[in-house]
Amino acid sequence: MVTGNSNKFEETEKIAKLNGVELERRDIDLPEIRGTLEEIVKDKARQAFEIIGFPIVCDDSGLFVNELDDFPGAFSKFVFEKIGNEGILKLLKNLQNRGAEFRCTACYFDGASFVISSGVVKGTVTESLRGSSGFGYDPIFLPEGNDKTFAEDLNYKMRVSHRKKAFTKLFSQLSK
Ligand code: IMP
Repeated sequence: MVTGNSNKFEETEKIAKLNGVELERRDIDLPEIRGTLEEIVKDKARQAFEIIGFPIVCDDSGLFVNELDDFPGAFSKFVFEKIGNEGILKLLKNLQNRGAEFRCTACYFDGASFVISSGVVKGTVTESLRGSSGFGYDPIFLPEGNDKTFAEDLNYKMRVSHRKKAFTKLFSQLSK
């Protein structure tokens, strides 16, 4: 798995184990083009294959806020680095509809063909930061079906996350 994000790797490694797959990490932070999650992940996979030369998996993911027309979406990494969770909370100040979702597109590439699958988890953006586990937007994301944010309840995240859904599907497609 090619990723510059160690938290992402830890999560995906656990998901892989549940599917009988062993992942090895290549710590490479690849530049991202502008586009949809699928366009971005395919481009990342091509770049990674050029460097590594054997089959790889990678993902692209983000937080999509309904009232912000899906912002930060595919810009999630850049936006997180620039304004962080506090910035998102400011943008949503006084907003009633705080619906949002995390999306993840997972990709396998062997130099010739792609296998791609996606996962989504719906929830809401909290009014303040809650919890210290996980990474990125986890402290402000309250998933449907739980009263704790992903950063307060990482076990719940590991059961229902966008990444769990995307990679579980990906590994099952690959085994077929
Ligand atoms: P990318 O997939 O490397 O482009 O990163 C997307 C950005 O979205 C990350 O830097 C995080 O800020 C955020 N993100 C992606 N997945 C998660 C997650 O599972 N929890 C919290 N934030 C996430």
